[in-house]
Amino acid sequence: MLCIEAKDLHKRYGKVVALDGLSFGVECGEKVALIGPNGAGKSTTLKVLVGLISPDQGYAKIAGYDPDSIMARKVIGYLPEDASPYPMLTVRENLEYIAALRGVEDVKERVEEMLDLLELREVERRRVMALSRGQRQKVAIALALIHRPKVLLLDEPLNYLDIPTQEKVISYLNSLKDVTTLVATHIMSIAVRLTSRVLIISHGKLIWTGTVQELRHMGKEDEPIESVVARMMRGSG
Ligand SMILES: Nc1ncnc2c1ncn2[C@@H]1O[C@H](COP(=O)(O)OP(=O)(O)O)[C@@H](O)[C@H]1O
Ligand SMILES: [Mg+2]
Repeated sequence: MLCIEAKDLHKRYGKVVALDGLSFGVECGEKVALIGPNGAGKSTTLKVLVGLISPDQGYAKIAGYDPDSIMARKVIGYLPEDASPYPMLTVRENLEYIAALRGVEDVKERVEEMLDLLELREVERRRVMALSRGQRQKVAIALALIHRPKVLLLDEPLNYLDIPTQEKVISYLNSLKDVTTLVATHIMSIAVRLTSRVLIISHGKLIWTGTVQELRHMGKEDEPIESVVARMMRGSG
């Protein structure tokens, strides 16, 4: 069963074609990376999948529901590319507020868990506007996860994070066994660490999909996976 489906998505911003007939599916429980260079259409795809923008043509489904339906919203956890939690609220207030809004039953426990997971204890009473960019990213990740979503859509999730935090987030995301996850990134090594299949897009079109293993096999001996992907991109014009 597909938990994420994109069907023939087209989207333009004025003259700029962001999505040009993009179709793919992600099985429930599968972890997949959406890979492509800057401007390939990754963030636009995620915005369509969460119902923030509607496509000019084609459709998206989350667990079989329209992205902007209440049912889809319940299961989605979304980390936007430039995530900005409420700046005037403290870190703790942001977590409590979103948890309550999301109908989390054990708000207190869950907020504690998220503060620990992302090592936000030291700054929990600070307003978000006074945080560093990396600390703000940690809050945004906590907000995307707090309601235990079944479908996670993460846009460049490790941006701004220091290496130890990256490792913590990677192992936590990998521990979420039956959570369907789509990670948009332009960094191949992140795709390899977080997912087992990649969708490579360029100019708003799917140019290849397969497992990370298959991608490795397509390379010459010891050829870095980045170089294999770069070759495919060039091939796609
Ligand atoms: N709000 C917008 N207005 C105009 N053009 C946009 C807007 N958002 C994205 N684009 C353009 O659409 C294309 C795809 O962008 P995006 O989905 O953000 O790519 P990616 O996330 O892969 O870097 C780019 O050419 C970008 O400049
Ligand atoms: Mg982007």
